[in-house]
Amino acid sequence: MKLIRRKSDLRAMTEAWRRAGQTIAVVPTMGALHAGHLSLVEAAGARADHVIVTIFVNPRQFNSPEDLAKYPRTEDSDARKLAPYGIDLLYVPAPEEIYPEGFATTVSVTGVSEGLCGGARPGHFDGVATVVTKLLLQTDADFAFFGEKDYQQLQVVRRLACDLDLKTRIVGCPTVRETDGLAMSSRNARLEAAARARARILPRTLEATIDAITRGTPVPQALDAARAALQEAQVEAIDYLELRSDPDLRPLDRADEPARLFVAAWLDGVRLIDNMALAPH
Ligand code: PAJ
Repeated sequence: MKLIRRKSDLRAMTEAWRRAGQTIAVVPTMGALHAGHLSLVEAAGARADHVIVTIFVNPRQFNSPEDLAKYPRTEDSDARKLAPYGIDLLYVPAPEEIYPEGFATTVSVTGVSEGLCGGARPGHFDGVATVVTKLLLQTDADFAFFGEKDYQQLQVVRRLACDLDLKTRIVGCPTVRETDGLAMSSRNARLEAAARARARILPRTLEATIDAITRGTPVPQALDAARAALQEAQVEAIDYLELRSDPDLRPLDRADEPARLFVAAWLDGVRLIDNMALAPH
């Protein structure tokens, strides 16, 4: 696995692959890799001749300097975790390779970026859309892999790839969970033991609520019961708990079309997100 920090070096590699008629898949990440990220790497390896993993802690998608500063930076251990996957390139761009002096362009997606994390984190999806567009273009990827854990982000990326005529096919992969159901996230490590134990309330509440809705409980009533369950488990704050249409993410108060349930909540000062699909009917 080759470590590259310059886009000129990256281009030399991708152009050589192109000349040989080979395909490229990219897995964009911010590092602090866990089994969720690695599932994307594995899926990418099954799909293309060459896999590029990118690690870039993108300052433009953070809402506060403290949150950006707190983000774990673990490049060496990330490289070790990737070693068994036989990937070709680890691209860890220097900041000026992404945002050179005078950078003045923002990719902004309307519609699917509104509400949910877009409401709770103003500007977040502009930062995501801008960096992802750049990473897909820089890596010249045929395929890009994203997790359903960040389902709104996945839909934002699908929209921008379609609207900007990018050739990259966007592939969504299922959420990888801990044995108690908690969605894997680099933020989980920030929970102290008691809060970590309570965190299973998030996936459990999503499951119970989907179950209630599927059995005919009206959506507003099911969501009220879910909020009560979260509060009882000492969740500090709920940023949102909403049923949305899938894939265009319109708010729904009836489950009469394909839908997903989304939650963002604070536990022990850590913001956790999760989402699950309603069983197709
Ligand atoms: P990051 O949080 O590092 O996540 C990188 C990719 O891993 C995303 O596609 C995310 O959805 C996926 N992922 C995270 N946890 C997962 C889990 N438990 N199961 C499956 N997939 C999971 O998301 C970002 O970085 C950034 O916003 C990025 C797209 C890299 C742009 O900066």
